Amino acid sequence: MNSIELQNLEKSYGSVRALRGLSLKVPQGCLYGLLGPNGAGKTTILRIISTLLAPDSGSVHVAGKDALIDARAVRKLLGYVAQEVSIDKILTGRELMSLQGDLYHLSNEDRDCRIGELIERLDMNDWIDRRCGTYSGGMRRKLDLAAGLLHKPRLIVLDEPTVGLDIESRSAIWQLLLELRGQGTTVLLSSHYLEEIEALADEMAIIDNGDVIAQGIPHRLKEQLGGDRVTLRVREFSDENEASHVKKVLEGVQGVRQVVINRLQGFSLNCLIDKDEVIAQLRDQLLQEGFSVFSLSQSKPSLDDVYLQATGRTLQDAELAVAGIRDFKLEKKKSMR
Ligand SMILES: Nc1ncnc2c1ncn2[C@@H]1O[C@H](COP(=O)(O)OP(=O)(O)O)[C@@H](O)[C@H]1O
Ligand SMILES: [Mg+2]
Repeated sequence: MNSIELQNLEKSYGSVRALRGLSLKVPQGCLYGLLGPNGAGKTTILRIISTLLAPDSGSVHVAGKDALIDARAVRKLLGYVAQEVSIDKILTGRELMSLQGDLYHLSNEDRDCRIGELIERLDMNDWIDRRCGTYSGGMRRKLDLAAGLLHKPRLIVLDEPTVGLDIESRSAIWQLLLELRGQGTTVLLSSHYLEEIEALADEMAIIDNGDVIAQGIPHRLKEQLGGDRVTLRVREFSDENEASHVKKVLEGVQGVRQVVINRLQGFSLNCLIDKDEVIAQLRDQLLQEGFSVFSLSQSKPSLDDVYLQATGRTLQDAELAVAGIRDFKLEKKKSMR
């Protein structure tokens, strides 16, 4: 059975088309990851599922209930942990959770008992009675998470739960999410961190530009790509023009599927190749053009390569484009489905 079923969701903010006919199914009891760069539409999807935002069209079912008709029932079933929360700075964490418990209509006894459990579980004892204004990012996230879990939802929806956190807080949150999944809770989270989805997700969808561009089990998605990733650098590789020239040469080699210039690391190139033999051809072709290979590494494809194959750019490129750091032209999308 599916915990969440979205069909043909459309959502625009003014002239920005944030979701473009997006469909998605999240199986019950699954830890499901939405991976995508900033601006892909992840928050919009999660807010729609959590009934905080209505789509322009399409259907939303959560645990068999129509969220567009029966929003109240859906809210009871799920806990939503927003990406950015403006928590009250004057209240203490405990007071904030109490308020939240009252919103869920928990009895005082149940509420306090549950708060106690969560404080223990999330190791919040030392600071939960301090004012929220004094909390670090990690403490705040834990508090958000605890608040979202107060009513023991069967489904927890988290929007970029570990963004900006130190490694320790991040792994504490990962641990908890895995534990929840182990207890049968369906966990849906968004992230633009590849490692996070790799580490946690049983199943995933890659979201780009308001639609799903690939979905499935992470390691299968990588296997389906076949071939390997090669990262290479050539001598006298100093500027964009040269990198573009080398890119063209590589694209002319049979068995090379995708080539992108990785500008952040001093113009290296990432290629997806079909099989090992392609590497020798690659070297030959570059030598003929007067470029000798300076360094070359070969690895199994990552989720970034899945993204690359589908969109023609890396996640990092997509992030930079959104941040306005680079004027990156979207290459034509290939459909993976
Ligand atoms: N309230 C809003 N008003 C206008 N545009 C918005 C609003 N919220 C989101 N957008 C735009 O919709 C697109 C998807 O945004 P969002 O769902 O927040 O993506 P993500 O969470 O993946 O970063 C982006 O282009 C974003 O700029
Ligand atoms: Mg977001």
